[in-house]
Amino acid sequence: MATSSSNESGPTLPRQRMSRARLAVVISGAGSNMLAIDDACRRGDLHADVVCVISNRADAAGLTHAAARGIPTSLVTPINGESRESYDERLASVIHAANADWIVLAGYMRILSSHFVGEFTGRLLNIHPSLLPAHKGLHTHRRAIEARDAQHGATVHFVTAELDGGPRILRGVLTLRPSDDEESLQRRVQRIEHAIYPEALELLARGRLRQTDAGAELDGQPLVEPLERHFDF
Ligand code: GAR
Repeated sequence: MATSSSNESGPTLPRQRMSRARLAVVISGAGSNMLAIDDACRRGDLHADVVCVISNRADAAGLTHAAARGIPTSLVTPINGESRESYDERLASVIHAANADWIVLAGYMRILSSHFVGEFTGRLLNIHPSLLPAHKGLHTHRRAIEARDAQHGATVHFVTAELDGGPRILRGVLTLRPSDDEESLQRRVQRIEHAIYPEALELLARGRLRQTDAGAELDGQPLVEPLERHFDF
C-alpha cells in the first residue's frame, strides 16, 4: 500500500502516492474492461498496475486473457449453499493477499454483502452500462431503447450498499441512433467504457479523487455532478 492519510470526513485512503496504484480487478466474464485498464497501465496513461484479476466464474474468458499477459489470477468459486458473507470473506482475503489499493469491479455480476462494501468503502469502484441513475440493474441497453432515451452510455461510480447507487464519478455519453439495437448499443457503450474507466482510475491513482461521507470529491471540491465525456463511436 502506498502512503496513506486519514481525515475526519472519510475513510483512510491512499493519497498523494509516490508509487503506482495497485489494482485488483474483479470480473465475471470477457474482461474487456480489465484489458483496457491494463492496456492503459502499460501505455503509461494510467499510473497503476493490475496486480490481480479475480473471477467468481471458472469460464470467465478474462481470466485466460489476464494469465496470458502474466497477471496473477484467482478463481473464487462460490460453494453450494455458502452465504454471501462467507463468499465475500474469501474474496476479501484474495484482495488483501494482493495488497491492492483499489478494488475495480469490471463486469462482476454478483451482489456484494454490506460487510464487504463497508470494509472497502472508498476503495471500491464499479462501471455500469447506463447513464446512472437511469437503468440500474440488468438489461440496460434494451431498457434504454424501450424507454426511447435520446442518450445512453456508461457510468463509473464508487460502490456503496445501494446497488448501482454510489457516488458517480464519470459518465460517458452517446446519442442513440435510429438503427441501434441491443447489440449495437452494447458494442458502442463498451468502447466508451474502455475510455472512461482508465480515466477515472487515473484520477484516483493521482490522489485527485476520493470518496467522502458526502459523496465524491475531486481536487478537494465536492463532485456534485459526475464528470461527463461525449462520444461519437
Ligand atoms: C460491461 O459492459 C460492464 O459495464 C457490465 O458488464 C460488462 C462487462 O464486460 N457490468 C455490469 O452490468 C454490472 N452491473 P467485460 O467483461 O468485457 O469488461
